[in-house]
Amino acid sequence: MALITLTEALDAARSGGYGVGAFNVTDLAQAEAVLDAAAETDSPVIVQTIAGSSAHGRDELYWKALVGLVAEYADVPVVLHLDHGASFDDCVRAIGAGFTSVMIDGSMRSDHVTPATFEENVAVTRRVVQYAHERGVSVEGELGTIGGSEDGGASIKKIVLADPDDAERFVAETGVDALAVAIGTSHGAYKFTSPPDGTVLRMDLISEIAERIPHTHLVMHGSSSLPAALRETINAHGGRLPESWGVPEAEKARSTTLGIRKINQGMDSHMAYSAAVRTYLDEDGIGVDPALYGSRGRVAMQEIVADRMQVFGQAGQAYRHRS
Ligand code: 13P
Repeated sequence: MALITLTEALDAARSGGYGVGAFNVTDLAQAEAVLDAAAETDSPVIVQTIAGSSAHGRDELYWKALVGLVAEYADVPVVLHLDHGASFDDCVRAIGAGFTSVMIDGSMRSDHVTPATFEENVAVTRRVVQYAHERGVSVEGELGTIGGSEDGGASIKKIVLADPDDAERFVAETGVDALAVAIGTSHGAYKFTSPPDGTVLRMDLISEIAERIPHTHLVMHGSSSLPAALRETINAHGGRLPESWGVPEAEKARSTTLGIRKINQGMDSHMAYSAAVRTYLDEDGIGVDPALYGSRGRVAMQEIVADRMQVFGQAGQAYRHRS
């Protein structure tokens, strides 16, 4: 079984009324953490990565190894997904490498700062959909602009909320399988300056959009909670993360009752990983072997991902993909 498409994963999630976490991984050990968490909780899972944003030197090498790693988890239904594909070419590369799902983020122009027009977004997304669907691969598009920086880089995007009318038109004109809707969340370790309420986190938009495009799966980006305890651990061991609030656990669980099916999480895993690594390096003092600190990071990441799988409701749902 191992590899399935995003559409298969999210169709099953719709039938079962749960969400599926899409966990960002930037190296093979993190992918192992996510897959081990899925095996441990008997979950279907989405493993996602961004082109040009990994600890490995070359995407093609890393992606080939990822496909090989996933194949080792024969009992886990896994979607291998390209997160925030920045161009048609990135999506083609990922599909060539064996990914079963790609996101084309046509919401920004190639400078990553200027929002693309609706028509520009439709044009590139439609082109990717045609190419991907001919090869049995699912496609996620993005409408509106999710804020922050998805790959930890310097470009910080401004939030532009998704518009329900545009969502209906976008889906009709592109044929995407899933749609990332900007509802006020942002990527990264800096999100809200106080606990988010309904004025900044527009959960109401989810149900409004879901009603307009009932056959398209909705995706929530920037869903990390930014646990205060992890921030404190990181800062106690040399970090300087400012206070910031993410999306509360309860809101993520609630989003799945409103129509969200794919929940993107990168930063929470990265914080768990870094907190463990920083603690080890600080306390050990002479430990320099990446095997020692890297494995602590991997285990901490597995723990938080397994926890989230319970919150999103995907734990125990792998059976839906076994015939
Ligand atoms: P976080 O930065 O909140 O973890 O979100 C990740 C994400 O949405 C990747 O696309």
